Amino acid sequence: MLTYIPYIPEYNMGMYCKGLCTYCGGKTRLYNYIAYLVYLCRAETFLDLFAGSAVTSLNINVRNKVINDMNTKLVVVYYALSRKDTAGLVMARIKDTKYCSKIFYEAHEYWEKRKDNVLTDFSDQDICDGAYYAWILLNFSRIGSKIDSGFIDTKEQMYDFMRFQDNLISYLGRLDGALVKNESALDILENLVESQEKISDNTVIYLDPPYLPSKKRGVNSNGTYKDGKGTNVFGRESHKRMLELADKLPRDKCKVIISGYDDMYNLYDTLGGNDFGEWSKIYVKSLPVMFGDGSKLKDGKRAVEDEYFFTNFTI
Ligand SMILES: C[S@@+](CC[C@H](N)C(=O)[O-])C[C@H]1O[C@@H](n2cnc3c(N)ncnc32)[C@H](O)[C@@H]1O
Repeated sequence: MLTYIPYIPEYNMGMYCKGLCTYCGGKTRLYNYIAYLVYLCRAETFLDLFAGSAVTSLNINVRNKVINDMNTKLVVVYYALSRKDTAGLVMARIKDTKYCSKIFYEAHEYWEKRKDNVLTDFSDQDICDGAYYAWILLNFSRIGSKIDSGFIDTKEQMYDFMRFQDNLISYLGRLDGALVKNESALDILENLVESQEKISDNTVIYLDPPYLPSKKRGVNSNGTYKDGKGTNVFGRESHKRMLELADKLPRDKCKVIISGYDDMYNLYDTLGGNDFGEWSKIYVKSLPVMFGDGSKLKDGKRAVEDEYFFTNFTI
């Protein structure tokens, strides 16, 4: 049995910054609750292993941040923002950009040609170009994880982009010095489980994996995410492995927060041979489904879904 916690307060730090782009599964409406847990845990190190739009990492105030995703285009933007020299250059270039198809297709072409490992093979110039073009693609199209779609030639999208340009300054400093990774979260967890001495005290790991395949919610309802390295599948087996690894982390120094829906609970509960007695299930709030099949209006209404956190500690 999990300990059920029906309520969690928000922790409003009054310093909201938007994510890097509109993103399927983005935690814009939940990061304040994550911030509360991070605050309770007195975290000094925060690992955001499925960071996506980075909205959580951008809005969490901790000394050390580790930010990871499999999507190379997102990662190169995190990387540029983590360094003072590149952050300013990329932002200045975006500030000067006009919303037009020419730039969009230039960005597309740039990324079509880049197949190499972004963090190890990119020069400083590549980081600036790669982050600039990636950010253009992410914000010239509607949904972050659907960045292969074409240029959106509407006034609404152009105004969105202009608002984004006006707010660029809010990104400054928020990922300064963060350690940026472009790996499978499962590999990172496996490494931490094997070398627990590498985990520093007061660490919080936040896991916001792709939807379970059963939830026809995401843009890729079968649990696949397109990333710079081809199609990345995070299906049932990966969820199970993630839970097993998370459960092996040392609770005294490493707190884990997992985002999920109710069906995660069943999965957690039925994990063969594992006692999840030390885990809590926290009800956060009900939110309208914004992406995928579930977002279609029924009788003029949007479906809602309950959001939960699963934690290896109690509050
Ligand atoms: C639900 S989204 C995360 C949303 C994010 N928390 C936000 O607020 O924007 C899941 C993310 O996991 C990434 N992903 C998928 N498989 C992964 C893996 N094996 N390791 C790390 N990231 C992965 C996807 O690229 C996607 O960005």
